[in-house]
Parts: sequence; C-alpha cells; structure tokens
Amino acid sequence: MKKFDSKAKPAAQVVGIDDISVYVPRLYLPLVGEFSRQRGIDPGKLLKGIGIEKMAVADAHEDAATMAANALLDLMRRSGLRPEDIDKIYVGTESAPDEAKALGTYVIGMMEQVYGKGSFHECETVEFKAACIGTTFALESLCYWAAFQDRMEDGGAEGDLEREKAGVVIASDIARYPLSSSGEYTQGAGSVALLVKRDPRLLAIEQVWGAFSRDENDFFRPMGCATAVVNGKHSNQCYLDAVQGAFDSFAARAGRRGIIRPPEGCCVTDFMDRILFHIPYPRMIEYASAAIFRHDWKRSSKRKKSRQQEAVEAEIGDEPLAEEFRDTGELQAAEADYSRRFSRSRTFLQAFEAKVKDTALLSRQVGNIYTGSIYLGLASLMEAQKLMPGERLGFAAYGSGCSALFFSATVQPRAEEVAGLGLLQRLQERREVSLADYERLHEGKAERSILKPAGEFILAGVDGQGYRHYEYIE
Ligand code: COA
Repeated sequence: MKKFDSKAKPAAQVVGIDDISVYVPRLYLPLVGEFSRQRGIDPGKLLKGIGIEKMAVADAHEDAATMAANALLDLMRRSGLRPEDIDKIYVGTESAPDEAKALGTYVIGMMEQVYGKGSFHECETVEFKAACIGTTFALESLCYWAAFQDRMEDGGAEGDLEREKAGVVIASDIARYPLSSSGEYTQGAGSVALLVKRDPRLLAIEQVWGAFSRDENDFFRPMGCATAVVNGKHSNQCYLDAVQGAFDSFAARAGRRGIIRPPEGCCVTDFMDRILFHIPYPRMIEYASAAIFRHDWKRSSKRKKSRQQEAVEAEIGDEPLAEEFRDTGELQAAEADYSRRFSRSRTFLQAFEAKVKDTALLSRQVGNIYTGSIYLGLASLMEAQKLMPGERLGFAAYGSGCSALFFSATVQPRAEEVAGLGLLQRLQERREVSLADYERLHEGKAERSILKPAGEFILAGVDGQGYRHYEYIE
C-alpha cells in the first residue's frame, strides 16, 4: 500500500472538457423568404450584415428545462455515464421557467424517469445567472472543483475504492426578443452539455481566467417580463469593451503564470490557434476579433513592432493619434474610419479566416442560444474537423449586464476518440415552420406541438400552482 507523503507537492491536475452534447429543436425559420419579405428587411443584411440563415424555433412542448434534459441524456449515453458518476449539474441559463426553483431540479426529475427514482439523490444542482456568460462561470467553478476533488486511490479495502466523479455544465436557453424588433433576427434556441472531469479527452483548461465586470444597462429582463430590454448598439460596445478587458486580464495572468509569455515583437494571440467568442450573431465575432487582434498586435509595438502591426500599417497606414485632431468628434470619425479599414485589411482577414471564422458554422443555422453559444462554437470546430490535438484555443465569453471571461484550453491527444456530433446532418433534417406558426409559438399561443415528440423529454403541462410537469416520450 502506498504511504501518503504529507510533504509532497500535489501534481498539477489536468482538468477540462471530456465530452460535449448539443440539443437543437427540430423546427427552424429561414430568415430569407417570408420573414425577410414580411419584415421588409433586405436579405443581404440578414445573411451578411448579421450572418444568420436559419433560426432554431422551440416547439410548444419545449422549454429551457426539456432542452437541458435532452442534452444531458444524450451526453450520458454518448459517454457511458451512470447517474452515480455525476456529482454536480451546474446550469447556465437566462430563460429559466422559475424565479426560485433551480432548473437542474426539473432536469433531475426528468432524468429519474429514465434512470429510476432517486438515482440522482446525491447530485448537487444549482443555476448560474449572468446573462450569456452564466455557463462559463459554471464551467470555471466546476474546473476548480474537479482539480481539487479527492480521489481515493490505494487507500483501504477494495469496497472503499471510490469511482472518480464528474461534473456536468449545461447551457440552455431560448433567445427571445419582441416580434418585429431589431433583436428578432438574432433569436434561436438550444442547449449544450459539457462533461467536466480530470484527465479529459477533449480539452484541458489551463486554469487562467481573465475577468472583467462593469454595471451596464445593455440587456436586462426585469421580473415578470417575457422578453428582454435591449439597447442593441450599446450591447455591441459593452461586449467589445468587456472582452478586451478580460483579454488584458488574461494576458497579464497568463504571463505571470508563465503559460504565455510572448517574446519581443510577438503577441498573445500568436500563441492561440483558434479563438472562440460568444456568438450572439455571427457578424459579432468579426467585430470582436477585429478589436482583439488590433489591440493585441499594436500592444507589442512600443519597442519592437509585431509582424502583423507592420503588415497592417503597410496596408492601411498608421493608427490615428489623438494629438493630431482638434476635437473629439474628428478623432472619433478618424477612429471609426480606421476600424472599418482595419476590418477589411488582408492581414486581419487572414487571421480571422485562420483562427475564428469556422467557429460560427453552426450559429448560422441555429441563431443565438445565449449561454451556450460560445460552446456551439466548439461544436462547430468539431463538426468542421478543425480541432487538432496540441492546439491552444482562446475562449472569450461575454454576458450582458456586464461581465467577460477569457480563458484558454489545449486540445488533448485523445480528442479524436470523442464521437462525432452529427449536428450538420441533424440540422438538415429539421422541419421548416411558417411565419404564422413561428409567431404563434413565439407568443405562447400555439395550442399543440407542430412535431409529434419522439425519444425526448416534453413539457406535459403546468398545474394551477405554476409547477411544471415533464414526461419522457419514447
Ligand atoms: N447588405 C449587407 N449588409 C447590410 C445590409 C445589406 N443590405 N444592410 C445593413 N447591413 C449591415 C450594416 O451595415 C451593419 O454592418 P456594419 O456594422 O459593418 O456597418 C450590419 O448589417 C448590422 O446592421 P445595423 O443596422 O447596424 O444593426 P441592427 O439595427 O440590425 O441591429 C443588433 C443589430 C445586433 C444591434 C440587433 O439585432 C440587436 O439588438 N440584437 C440583440 C442584442 C445583441 O445580440 N447584442 C449583441 C451583443 S451581446
């Protein structure tokens, strides 16, 4: 029997994401056609200016809880997990059906219909609310927990040996804005479940979390309101400020920890093969990556310019300098013009194409799924077969209100063992809904489901007290 050495330094734990599952409703609304005609919107704006082709639409029997349970069931089946393997289920959502009861308790109720009454009794569940970043805070929490979890390895008799437990993070949301509003074409619905444990097959999280928070009114949903109050353009700016703040915090912390220390003339993003941003709509990741690359490339220029900064200056000239302008109006105009030219420069477009573009593959077909959208980006890389062992990924999560987190992860050698998601195929098999049916579902006026449920959890009804009843339909 091994002796416990109290002086030994604990080995650094490799923790992260072992597997992922994605649930997307089987209904969609194409944005070009009846929708664009009725709303009087140019298709070019939706396809290019916003970047979405189809929005996932939740059917009458679906809500954030059914979608979460469907994603978890799939994750358990994919990974061969048993209920007793799961110690914690942390749920990130901003469309929970209850103001007090944790969504995860409804999920556990549904799972026990499949795995047996009481099978999840020892599992903890809690909800993280922080707009679209809730899931990432949940992931951070579970990573710390997984890293410090006790494992009885050789201590005692055979029967005492405890199987290592895993945690699950679930993102589940229906993104809903008022009909005919400018937010309407950035809706969507879906759920992502992430299996978090030590020695993960997919991604090892490097445990450097760059953070930024500020009190903002960009997007919020006061008690009792079915849709959010959105100051759309302001939310874009808050997103950019917060992500840049979190990136700087990450860069400083990663440098101190010796994880990323760029030599003279190099940048932090040189050490990242892909960057995944929160995707409220695909065009937003172009704005975000232009802001981050521009900021990062010029940061190293004090003593020695980065290769990218030199290339950009050769293409579009020098950055506007405040002292060259008489008033702030002129400076702002020059700044806006430079930003526009930067986002069209060859140097930026090459970096965007190589490191960011593929992360929006699924979002174009699904729309915004709020808390899960950054992880839909991860699923996009898997679907596009762009996740290569040894590569480092940067993640930039944003939640209105507002907060951002920037963290990094490395793709593990066993990533190829993780089964494919088959999502592109599943998205192809969805049913198109008419504008009238979509509007009825949106307003909660659909009397029955459009598709007959099969092999999924459904909302069977809401009783007089407001308690929700769910069922598994074979
Ligand atoms: N062809 C191609 N592009 C077009 C176009 C056309 N016919 N018409 C407009 N566009 C472009 C615009 O030029 C603009 O691109 P630019 O920024 O490069 O100039 C882009 O489409 C967006 O159009 P715009 O009119 O500026 O925005 P909007 O009024 O449609 O609002 C949001 C966009 C995102 C603010 C709005 O949908 C919203 O509030 N969404 C919910 C909140 C949200 O998702 N916030 C994001 C941060 S969390």
